[in-house]
Amino acid sequence: MEEQLEQVISMPRIGDAAPAFKAVTTQGDINFPADYKDSWVILFSHPADFTPVCTSEFMTFATMEEKFNKANCKLVGLSIDGLYSHIAWLRTIKEKIEYKGMKNVEVNFPLIEDITMEVAKKYGMIQPNEDSTKAVRAVFFIDPKGIIRTIIYYPLSLGRNFDELYRVIIALQAADEFGVATPADWYPGDDVIIGPAGSCGSAKDRMEDGDIDCKDWFFCTKKLDKDTVMDRVLKK
Ligand code: BEZ
Repeated sequence: MEEQLEQVISMPRIGDAAPAFKAVTTQGDINFPADYKDSWVILFSHPADFTPVCTSEFMTFATMEEKFNKANCKLVGLSIDGLYSHIAWLRTIKEKIEYKGMKNVEVNFPLIEDITMEVAKKYGMIQPNEDSTKAVRAVFFIDPKGIIRTIIYYPLSLGRNFDELYRVIIALQAADEFGVATPADWYPGDDVIIGPAGSCGSAKDRMEDGDIDCKDWFFCTKKLDKDTVMDRVLKK
C-alpha cells in the first residue's frame, strides 16, 4: 500500500495542451488531437467492456451523441481492452441490450483500444489505488485549440451523469463566447456572472448600471437568455 501511494502519477491539468497520441479505434486510426481541430472533444475512459455500468453509460452517451455533435463536440472513448473486444461489446449492445427505453443502440463514436495503457497513462486515467489494470471513469473536455478545459474523474462504481457533461460543454462555450462565468447549478437561460471589477471606478459604475444586478461590488450578474446562448453554441 505504502509503495503504491509513493508512485508519482502524471496527469495533465486544466489549461495544458491535450497530450498527443495515435491510436487504433472502432472507427479506424486516429491522430489525437490533430484530427479534432476546430471541434470540442470529450475524451473519456471506462474501466472495461462487457460490464454493466459501462454498458449503461455507452448506451446513454450514444443516444445523446447527436446532441453533443450539434454543440460542435465530438466523443472519443477509451478502455484498456483490445479492438476485437470493443467490436464484440458494441455489437452486443446493439443486438441484445435493452435498458431504460433504449434499444438497438449503435455506438458511432470511436472507441480507442489501449491494451498497452499508453494513452491511459498519458492522461492519468490509471489510478492504482482504485485499480491498477482498469481506467477510472475520466472525462477530459478539450477545446478546438487542443487545450484541456475541464477534467472530471469518477470511480469505477459510479456511472456518470451525461446531462451534466452536456451542461459543461454548453457552459464552457457560453463563457468563451460571451466573456462571462456561470454560477452554481447554471443552465442556459439563468443569469451569468460578469468578471470582477478592475478598478474602484468600474466597481462604482457597475453598482449603478441598471442592466447589471450586483449583490455587492464583487458579485454581479446579468441576464443572458437561453436562445442567445444556444443559437451561438449550436450554430458554430
Ligand atoms: C461496470 O461498468 O459495471 C464496472 C466496471 C468495473 C468495475 C466495477 C463496475
